[in-house]
Amino acid sequence: MKFATLSALLLAPALALAQSESASASASASASGSSAASPSATGEAAPGDGVTSYLTTLLGALNAANLTGLVGVASGIANTTEGLALLTELSQGNKTVFAPSNEAFSAVPQEVASNTTLLTQILSYHILNNSYTPDGVRTAPNHTIARSLLRGGNYTLPGNFSAPLVLSKSSSGSNSTSSGGNSTESSNSTSAFNINGPTSNVSATGPVAAANLQVYIINEVLSLPPSVSEVAGDLFPSLAGVIGQTGLLDPIAAAQGITIFAPNDAAFAGLGDALGQLNNTQISTILANHVINGTVVYSTGLTSSNYTSAAGEPFTFLSNGTGVFVQSANSTARIIQSDIIINNGVVHLIDGVLVNTGSNPEAAASAYSSGVAAAATSTEATAPVTATSEAAPTGSQSGSSGGSSAGQKLEAPAFTNAFVGGALALIGVVIGGGFTLM
Ligand SMILES: *[C@@H]1O[C@H](CO)[C@@H](O)[C@H](O)[C@H]1NC(C)=O
Ligand SMILES: *[C@@H]1O[C@H](CO)[C@@H](O)[C@H](O)[C@H]1NC(C)=O
Ligand SMILES: *[C@@H]1O[C@H](CO)[C@@H](O)[C@H](O)[C@H]1NC(C)=O
Ligand SMILES: *[C@@H]1O[C@H](CO)[C@@H](O)[C@H](O)[C@H]1NC(C)=O
Ligand SMILES: *[C@@H]1O[C@H](CO)[C@@H](O)[C@H](O)[C@H]1NC(C)=O
Ligand SMILES: *[C@@H]1O[C@H](CO)[C@@H](O)[C@H](O)[C@H]1NC(C)=O
Ligand SMILES: *[C@@H]1O[C@H](CO)[C@@H](O)[C@H](O)[C@H]1NC(C)=O
Ligand SMILES: *[C@@H]1O[C@H](CO)[C@@H](O)[C@H](O)[C@H]1NC(C)=O
Ligand SMILES: *[C@@H]1O[C@H](CO)[C@@H](O)[C@H](O)[C@H]1NC(C)=O
Ligand SMILES: *[C@@H]1O[C@H](CO)[C@@H](O)[C@H](O)[C@H]1NC(C)=O
Ligand SMILES: *[C@@H]1O[C@H](CO)[C@@H](O)[C@H](O)[C@H]1NC(C)=O
Ligand SMILES: *[C@@H]1O[C@H](CO)[C@@H](O)[C@H](O)[C@H]1NC(C)=O
Repeated sequence: MKFATLSALLLAPALALAQSESASASASASASGSSAASPSATGEAAPGDGVTSYLTTLLGALNAANLTGLVGVASGIANTTEGLALLTELSQGNKTVFAPSNEAFSAVPQEVASNTTLLTQILSYHILNNSYTPDGVRTAPNHTIARSLLRGGNYTLPGNFSAPLVLSKSSSGSNSTSSGGNSTESSNSTSAFNINGPTSNVSATGPVAAANLQVYIINEVLSLPPSVSEVAGDLFPSLAGVIGQTGLLDPIAAAQGITIFAPNDAAFAGLGDALGQLNNTQISTILANHVINGTVVYSTGLTSSNYTSAAGEPFTFLSNGTGVFVQSANSTARIIQSDIIINNGVVHLIDGVLVNTGSNPEAAASAYSSGVAAAATSTEATAPVTATSEAAPTGSQSGSSGGSSAGQKLEAPAFTNAFVGGALALIGVVIGGGFTLM
């Protein structure tokens, strides 16, 4: 393959930053046209030559910015089929790259660093379609959802959509507190924005322009989206326990596209022994009424449109000055942390259990197939900005490092008046169904 020449490229002083600016212009100009991505426009080059030429420019610019760790990773995957596919995709259209510092790369364990499949997946989760600047990113607690280039395998979503990252900038703008770690770019490292994780945020500084890329430096290598079991321990251990008991974990983990409204521990504590009064079928049904099967609904979708649960019951969404609420039958809960990205979908943390024992298997099956069909024809997958949240914040903003967001429950008087619902509905349902509380 042509990539035997890569090591030569790496040693070459290459065209460096000066040239990357004109390369950027021509890459942008040609991006809307053909898919051959040859910033230096050498004519009818074979696709391999196009990518080689592109990489010459790109790696030169990255080397000039001292991002040698990233250069090493990019060149390390360039002779594999999947790596070449990723680098080819990288060359097409404007992209944003989160570049882990050299220190961050050096901390990557050897078994990961030597696994090009895994390394390619990890790198693809550091690359966003389109250019993102602080101006284009919402201010916390609002956030912007941006598609990465990670898709397939354990990260398969309906319609072959790619996994997103959640971005926000801090309200103070220039004086944000970074979430730990050392900045390698010792110069002037004000945070441009943050990448929000389930329990902590990573701050990104920059950008450095390199070819068609806006490169932001981060001080750690981003983790691939976790499985539902992996986030459960931190965010909703009680729910995880109940899911485990009912045997629902495997179907949820196996789903290719899922939305989970996950009651936090305080919500379960608020139930007392109520679940203990129900049989397993009823508990499974209640849990299935917290899940949308086959459709991934980020916070922007939690509006008036209707979705059907995995048990076949309708969800409704309400939004007012105190937040965004999800309702199933007579139960209502507030969304206290939205858009927690998992490998096969998204989790929204809620402050109450939706006690709906109703089910409609036909409606569930129909909602599943229409959801999958809708994703297959959607053009959203290629849209630059997938979603921008309006009202549902990420809890990690308020509580620095995730943990329990339980303290937010029932904080606003307006909320207690309007939606005391959760607990009352539980009592209603349970009594109505012939069960007694306590
Ligand atoms: C890439 O970015 C440049 C500069 O922001 C813009 O002019 C151009 O339209 C963008 N190209 C695409 C394909 O979005
Ligand atoms: C690049 O790294 C080297 C060695 O760590 C350092 O001496 C040099 O100042 C760095 N250059 C830039 C532009 O940061
Ligand atoms: C890629 O390059 C590395 C080292 O340069 C080599 O060990 C590996 O066999 C190559 N892989 C392929 C698929 O050519
Ligand atoms: C490399 O990573 C992939 C993806 O996680 C995994 O499936 C595979 O088993 C790993 N290969 C090795 C040799 O560890
Ligand atoms: C998918 O996930 C399973 C279980 O979490 C893991 O064993 C496997 O290596 C993963 N495969 C890939 C391709 O990541
Ligand atoms: C951050 O900004 C706030 C007001 O915007 C100011 O009061 C505070 O002193 C600043 N902190 C630092 C460390 O600059
Ligand atoms: C920053 O780096 C120094 C030296 O490399 C280290 O001693 C220190 O603990 C680091 N601080 C953080 C917050 O990682
Ligand atoms: C950041 O760097 C720019 C130019 O490099 C400078 O104008 C600005 O004052 C610096 N900001 C801080 C907070 O150091
Ligand atoms: C989703 O629907 C499919 C098809 O009806 C079914 O096989 C699967 O078990 C369902 N998953 C969940 C979590 O309900
Ligand atoms: C669970 O309780 C419901 C409501 O009383 C009842 O209809 C159903 O048959 C029970 N299921 C089992 C498996 O006991
Ligand atoms: C939601 O469902 C209700 C009743 O099922 C229906 O009247 C309403 O039009 C639906 N709204 C949307 C946006 O689909
Ligand atoms: C978050 O979005 C809402 C709705 O667009 C807006 O009213 C609010 O001011 C935003 N908050 C911040 C901090 O930007």
